[in-house]
Amino acid sequence: MQAVLVGLGNFGLGWYKRLRSHPGVQTVCVVESNVQLRETIDPETPFYLTLEEAIISERPDFVINVTPPHVHTTINEIAFSHGLPVLCEKPISNDITDAQYIVGQAELKNIPFMISENYRFFAPVLKAKELLDSGVIGHLSSVHIEFDRYHVVTVPYFGRLANGLLEDVTIHHFDMIRYFTGQEAVKVFAMNSNPPGSWTDTTTIHLSAWMELDGGTVVDYHGNMMAKGKLTEWYGDWRFEGAEGAIAVTSNRVQLMKEGKADEVYTFDGVGNVLSIDEFLAALKEKREPRPSGRDYLKSQSLVHAAAVSSRTGKMLSVEEALREV
Ligand SMILES: NC(=O)c1ccc[n+]([C@@H]2O[C@H](COP(=O)([O-])OP(=O)(O)OC[C@H]3O[C@@H](n4cnc5c(N)ncnc54)[C@H](O)[C@@H]3O)[C@@H](O)[C@H]2O)c1
Repeated sequence: MQAVLVGLGNFGLGWYKRLRSHPGVQTVCVVESNVQLRETIDPETPFYLTLEEAIISERPDFVINVTPPHVHTTINEIAFSHGLPVLCEKPISNDITDAQYIVGQAELKNIPFMISENYRFFAPVLKAKELLDSGVIGHLSSVHIEFDRYHVVTVPYFGRLANGLLEDVTIHHFDMIRYFTGQEAVKVFAMNSNPPGSWTDTTTIHLSAWMELDGGTVVDYHGNMMAKGKLTEWYGDWRFEGAEGAIAVTSNRVQLMKEGKADEVYTFDGVGNVLSIDEFLAALKEKREPRPSGRDYLKSQSLVHAAAVSSRTGKMLSVEEALREV
């Protein structure tokens, strides 16, 4: 398979290395509008300034889109116009109408469109999901999530987002809520803020959110990108409370608890070390929908949108109500 990687910035360089060493990818060419970044890769790698040129010259089999979020749709549309499957970095787009449009285009043209949600593939996440699905803690009553990092983001697009933490990082966690529970939110309440001590004055990096899911489970979420206290992994600390026990996911540790005591600590043997590119290539080969597909991820994106609208209006609302306020 021949890949074209679009965007060689902060995250794109890692993608370049990953694609070059992947057994399922025979050749990689790169599209990057900043010509200076050509120096960061092997000079033998074909390099283009536009995706159109690369497609015409290299005839790739698929596109990996690692451009800034506001550029995603332009790149995805070019790929779709050539019938090429796309693995696109999150979010689909920061604009929910735009995200709905491009997912619709992929479906209309019957083109595989996957969002690279790498947090779904972390070993502790896969292990916790396996335990939840086994039913070992019974009916899920509540989910508590804490995300704490001190992380100054220097990529230019971040500071231009209305709610940096929510749109750029919490989107992973909101997707994980849906992935872990298999439920969708019916009510969302959220408050984005930028408290004293923040390292930015252009976007928000603190978030408190609450939601009720369609199976009755309630979720509370705390996110902070200016934390000086206890820090979490990027996927955060999770506690799932069920009728018959609890599961705690903390820094690379998954623990089952019964009656308030730690019952068992799990290793990650057998959960595999999967990358989103593995899932994408497998889905292409098996001619099935990739996980998460654009259509699936649109629901995570809608949850982010609902949290933004709730915060702006000060109201608790359903995702449907929020989608009417674009
Ligand atoms: N999954 C994760 O954990 C994770 C982590 C970081 C970033 N990301 C995602 O990766 C994407 C890129 O983020 P980043 O931090 O690398 O941003 P970045 O700004 O550092 O890099 C983006 C690159 O795209 C290039 N570009 C812009 N428009 C282009 C165009 N039309 N054609 C070709 N190149 C173009 C820019 O010149 C830049 O080099 C974003 O969607 C971001 O959300 C995901």
